[in-house]
This record gives sequence, structure tokens and C-alpha cells, in this order.
Amino acid sequence: MPFKKFANSSVDSLIPLAVPSLDGNEEKYLRQCIATNFVSSVGPFVGEFEKQLSNQVKSQYVVATNSGTSALHLMLISVGVQPRDLVIIPSYSFIATANAVSMTGANPWFMDIELTSWGLDPDILRDELINGCTRSEKGLIHKVTGARIAAVMPVYAAGHPPRVSELCQVAKEFQIPIVFDSAAAIGSKSDGNEIGELEALHSLSFNGNKTITCGGGGAVILNDELAAKFIRHISTTARTEDGYEHDQVGYNYRLTNVQAAIGVAQLENLDQFLANKRRIAETYREELSDMSGASFPNVSTDTPSHWLSGMLLKDSHREFMTKIIQSLADCGIQARESWRPLHEMTPYRNCLSSTMNSMDFLKNRVLTLPNSTSLSKDDQEKVVRSLRRILAHL
Ligand SMILES: Cc1ncc(COP(=O)(O)O)c(C=O)c1O
Repeated sequence: MPFKKFANSSVDSLIPLAVPSLDGNEEKYLRQCIATNFVSSVGPFVGEFEKQLSNQVKSQYVVATNSGTSALHLMLISVGVQPRDLVIIPSYSFIATANAVSMTGANPWFMDIELTSWGLDPDILRDELINGCTRSEKGLIHKVTGARIAAVMPVYAAGHPPRVSELCQVAKEFQIPIVFDSAAAIGSKSDGNEIGELEALHSLSFNGNKTITCGGGGAVILNDELAAKFIRHISTTARTEDGYEHDQVGYNYRLTNVQAAIGVAQLENLDQFLANKRRIAETYREELSDMSGASFPNVSTDTPSHWLSGMLLKDSHREFMTKIIQSLADCGIQARESWRPLHEMTPYRNCLSSTMNSMDFLKNRVLTLPNSTSLSKDDQEKVVRSLRRILAHL
């Protein structure tokens, strides 16, 4: 069946938000999977992908998974999250962060972000733990619900690192495990360190809109040998031998050879992809920051991956956002409102949450603009021109 390639404006009239670039060795490696009959998770590309990824992020271990969500789930299990526990997460994230908590049977406790990094605010985290919790022999207990605080999981929002070392310090002070949802953080650095050089477990996603994709996929990034063994074990149904012996509840979460084949080809172009994302983000900043009614987040001194290019609007009105998005669509440009607050989502409305001053400020204000790694200079100029005209008239 003939499919039309959805890639960029030279093929389609629409300038898309974020589509993959598959112009490297993807096709060649996929053909190797078919030719060798290795299409499932047993296959040479899986190990190769893990090896190359660990070199890239500078971690000792990588466990490749079939999605970023499964990587989050595995990390939470590995640090001992149990049903009815609480896991602290920021309200500003994709819903998968909260869903992974629910998948363990625990409940999310939503906390506010800071406006510099758009990540979990370590000062708010400390205050909430001091004022809302008490220590017992079972660990740190939430005073009102009696639930155990099992972990904290900050997020790299749109690829910006949160304040990693301060967050780790708070977690240490209160003796709670910390793991990072760094789904879009490939290429991010905190204090000059790649995510694999940092002390806590990190996860990545390789779904279709990420800087590099496997079609779908994810990974747990870590330096702890025992934890890596455990995570690998439960990601492959906790099988203890070649036959049907399993020593605990496990999951079918491994990346397949087909996905890994795409991933290996994508990694070959990662440096170029990251450079393109950075150039696109800098161009938006230079071309749009001067406009009244528009400003960009004050990114911390860390290095963001620029997974998404977000722009902060002057007004926090849904209708204003919708009008801009519609006007851009009329010009053949795809733009989107960023994540809505998780603590307001239907499945999570009744969960615990801190006061949300920064989240309330950010709500309805973050407009994400096209930033595919293949976005041409001409197309970006068109986005800038159109947006300036639209904002001037609204
Ligand atoms: C912050 C964040 N966490 C988790 C995920 C889930 O990853 P996946 O879609 O690979 O399951 C995403 C995906 O976009 C994400 O942006």
C-alpha cells in the first residue's frame, strides 16, 4: 500500500511540530533484521544499542525497554515502591509520569515547579517534607494520609534539567529514593555531567517525537550493577532459565531488535540532531524574545537538550492560545499547547497536591513551536514571520 511520507514542508504543505529524521542507516539496519530473521528482543541490535547509548550518556549500564513509560515503571519498582505508597512528582509533565506511579499501585503527590527550569522545585519539596511528613520506623510518613513516601521522581521538562544536585540533596536528607523522568533529556547536562554520570537512576524515551526515536522505546540509565541486573530480569518476565521458570512477577518490557536497529542508526546522527535542535531554539529566542507579549523561559546554566522549543505567552488564556494555534494552522504551521497540569487531569484530580503558584502561572502559556531536527531555515523563518504577525494582531 503506498504511504505518503510525513516529513517536512518540501513534501507536505504543513510544517510539522516534531517529526523524526530517518535518512541515515535506518532502512539498511531494518533490512538486516528481516534478512537474519531477528525481529524480537533477541537480536544483536539490542545489545549494540545499549552499548552505544551507555557510551553516549556515560553510564555503566543501560537497560533498553519498549517504551519510556515501562522504563519509569521499572525504576519505581527497583527502588521499592509498593501499592498505597506516595511518589512525589511535579505537576508539569506528560501524563506517563503519573501513570507509571499508578502502575505500581502507589499514588502521585503532585508538587509545584520553579519557573527557571520548569522542573520540580527543591525548596518546595523540602518544605512539604518538613511540614507534611513525619519519620517512623517504616520510613517517611505523610501525616494526613498515613502513606509512606516511597520515592521522588523529578522530570526534565521539555529537556531542561531540573536542579538535579539540590533535588538529590533533599532526597538524601529525608532518606527517600530519587529517580528521574528524563524521557527527553538525551544531550542534557547538569553541572557539565551527562545523565549517566549523575548519581540517581534516569530514564529515556525513544517514541516518535523524541530527539532520537526507535519508533517506540525507552531505557533505564544507571551505574548500580545489582539494580541493572534486577531491572533487566523483571523486564524480561523474570525468567530464570531458558524454559518456563520465573521467580517473581515480571514484565514483557524489552526493546525489540527491530526498534533497536532504528535506534542504532539514529544514534549515529545524534550529535547533528542535537546541534539542529540547539540552533532552532536559539533562533526562536533571538527572533522572538524582543516582541512585546512574548518571552522565553530563563533556562538554568545547565545544558538543555532543547527537545521541544517552548515559548511563554503574555496571557494565560486558553482562548488566546487556541487562537494563536489556529492562526498558525491557517498558515500551514503546526503548533501545540504544552502539557496541562497533571493534578487537574481527570484520573488524578483527587490526589494530593501542593499549592501550585508557578504551575498556575505556566498553565495555558507555553506554546510549542515546530522544531523537527529536519526543520529548514526557510521553514523556521516562515514560523517566526507568521507568529510575529499573529501576535501583533491579537
Ligand atoms: C516527560 C515524559 N515522561 C514519559 C514519557 C513516556 O514515554 P513513552 O511515550 O516512550 O512511553 C514521555 C513521552 O513523551 C515524556 O515526555
